[in-house]
Amino acid sequence: MSAELTIKVRVAAASDEAEDIRRLELVSLDGSLLPAFSAGSHIDVYLSEKIIRQYSLCNAPSERTQYVIAVLRDPQGRGGSAAVHELKVGDEILISAPRNLFELRPEGNSLLVAGGIGITPILSMAQSLAAEGRPFSMHYATRTRKRTAFLEKIRTSAFAPSVSHYWSQEQDGQKLELDHLLRSPKPDDHLYVCGPRHFMDAVIKTATESGWPEGNIHYEFFAGEVMRLDSDEAFSVQIASSGQSISVGPEQTVVEALAAVGIEIPTSCEQGICGTCLTGILRGEPEHRDMFLTAEEQACNDKFLPCCSRSKSRILVLDL
Ligand code: FES
Repeated sequence: MSAELTIKVRVAAASDEAEDIRRLELVSLDGSLLPAFSAGSHIDVYLSEKIIRQYSLCNAPSERTQYVIAVLRDPQGRGGSAAVHELKVGDEILISAPRNLFELRPEGNSLLVAGGIGITPILSMAQSLAAEGRPFSMHYATRTRKRTAFLEKIRTSAFAPSVSHYWSQEQDGQKLELDHLLRSPKPDDHLYVCGPRHFMDAVIKTATESGWPEGNIHYEFFAGEVMRLDSDEAFSVQIASSGQSISVGPEQTVVEALAAVGIEIPTSCEQGICGTCLTGILRGEPEHRDMFLTAEEQACNDKFLPCCSRSKSRILVLDL
């Protein structure tokens, strides 16, 4: 962790935003403005030496006095959400400056689609688009009203008429018909989707089948979720210093395969965002699936993020 890249903030407010969802307001220690951010940005939150998690900012980018995050408690999680839920008003924590891997395009009509806690970046986008007077509609799917974060904020917002709610477990809940929602895209329509894995897979698949160009579909996976494809195949990695060869199964990450034979690669986000697991490559061609390296760095093929990236070649020789 590099000290100059972190900011110490104080928890100014902590409340239950919805069932199992905790909302935190983070402010600077001296009351100064926080670094500017754009809708779709996330921050790294340093919860302990070993636990760093990425959370989207859900407030309006015009609000520089605070960052708002909302975190779903994940009983199957690795401790990040539980640690956030324990934070109290007055606690001081380190965060990174905001980073945006899920940016709004400067043009076009925006279709915002959120599933569950995926509302966090989408809400910031809605506020940003509304403030700029740009056309958009927002579609927000949750199980019940009680599990719907920011329900009241959305209901009382100026953009409430642009929002449709879908509650899968409410008697009067409207069903989200993706075929209908995503049909006949216009060339300047842009789709932004965030939510649980199965939800995003369904939205992206339907959009693709409905003729949305790949470049107009924008999405961000949650922390801890790594892109896996049915077409993923096994390959081998070789440790340059020892010559040891380790096979990586179709359902394994390189980090998991190495850990299984006792080779530990330090990790944090485990989804290609933070760069902690960056590893050099001496031979072979990686299949980059991270969001950490720039396109130019990826094109060099001399390093990759083994928590999420795979291999196009049968063997990757790692600089380990
Ligand atoms: Fe964060 Fe691999 S652990 S990029």
